[in-house]
Amino acid sequence: MVGIVIIGAQWGDEGKGKITDYFASKADMVVRFQGGNNAGHTVVVGDKTFKFHLLPSGAIQGKEIIIGNGVVIDPKVLLKELQNLASHGIKPRLKISGAAHVILPFHREWDGIEEQLKGKAAAGTTRRGIGPVYTDKIARYGIRMNDLLHKEILEQKLELLLSIKNKILELFNGAKFDKNTILSEYLTYGQQLKEYITDTVGYINQALDAKKKILFEGAQGTLLGIDHGVYPVCTSSNTTAGGACTGTGVAPTKITKIIGIVKAYLSRVGTGPVVTELTDEIGDWIRKKGHEYGTTTGRPRRVGWLDLFAVKYAHIINNFDGIVLTKLDVLGGLDKIKICTDYILDGKQLPIMPTDPYVLVKCQPKYIEVEGWPDYSEDEWTEIAKTGYEALPKAMIEYIQKIEEYLRVPVILVSIGAERNQTIEIKSVFD
Ligand code: IMP
Repeated sequence: MVGIVIIGAQWGDEGKGKITDYFASKADMVVRFQGGNNAGHTVVVGDKTFKFHLLPSGAIQGKEIIIGNGVVIDPKVLLKELQNLASHGIKPRLKISGAAHVILPFHREWDGIEEQLKGKAAAGTTRRGIGPVYTDKIARYGIRMNDLLHKEILEQKLELLLSIKNKILELFNGAKFDKNTILSEYLTYGQQLKEYITDTVGYINQALDAKKKILFEGAQGTLLGIDHGVYPVCTSSNTTAGGACTGTGVAPTKITKIIGIVKAYLSRVGTGPVVTELTDEIGDWIRKKGHEYGTTTGRPRRVGWLDLFAVKYAHIINNFDGIVLTKLDVLGGLDKIKICTDYILDGKQLPIMPTDPYVLVKCQPKYIEVEGWPDYSEDEWTEIAKTGYEALPKAMIEYIQKIEEYLRVPVILVSIGAERNQTIEIKSVFD
């Protein structure tokens, strides 16, 4: 049995898309288990750049791809991604869980109103309706993908949902939603997606039993998780290894490996304290060089030094078997690089990262400083990747070793560029 979970160890945007795509070449199936089109994965293949929000990353490699029950789906966005792939001659081998919840127009509307009403306390959401659709799921009147295939059931459920939503929206001058318009639009989506909607729990478990190699692809990052992230400036799903189980119906003992993706520095979209944030010219330089602008919203990301104390917390939550380090090339050209190893609060070193923003905002980072490495060109990084790990600059190898020593987890792969061939595998994830 091979069930490998890929988790963002920071605030999302660690480069999980590229890495899942890389591992997918040797896997049979890629499964997404949480989040929705708030996520954005970029995969570069030759001169083509693919941006996915909902489809799992193995899509372009002809692997089986599954959208699990823990994901929330905006059918219009999903259909657009399928059309985009079709325009490149790709028809993915896709299965969608009938139990995945559906994002409806008022979820998007309510996401915006809620953010406005929260004022200063707004989380800076992607406004894709993620919080509101998960709210309805927990409140037990959400609509699921299966419902789009049954007119009477969908009509009944919409009647109940709209009777509540329209009353709330009216209070805040929001748009009023018409049941019949939504009914006909979403029944059409149901017909267009019918061939993909199925019971994915049985399917994934059977595949595991048949010794297929399965990747479980996380979206966002551990620090954005609803239970173990920095609440309330987080997303609304479990972005952790535990989320891979509930979001797919796979038992914890069937997960064979958990891999944490760590970017060589830190980035964050949205509000909330970031202890190692760089608001100076080094921060601007990293943002520009690392193209740190949201795939989904285009917003400039906040950036900072690598926060290993936060990654250690992510390791506690997920128990990583291996670490993948991404975007090491971006830091090339800096004389010195800082790594945060501890948080100091009221003069004392903390034993574990606090996830309460009111505490976090008062924490001071304790840094170690290491040597930087040269700023090579894209072609030079590709050449280095071709030669292998020993060809990496000495200071970069020391940086990698510092991370391994601190976390006591091996670094199994490093990424030094967006392309597939700018990757160095140190140890195969499937060993
Ligand atoms: P929501 O998931 O749209 O509700 O947004 C909640 C928080 O999570 C905001 O701070 C977003 O910027 C952040 N967020 C959501 N998805 C991603 C992602 O894929 N990468 C990075 N941040 C994200």
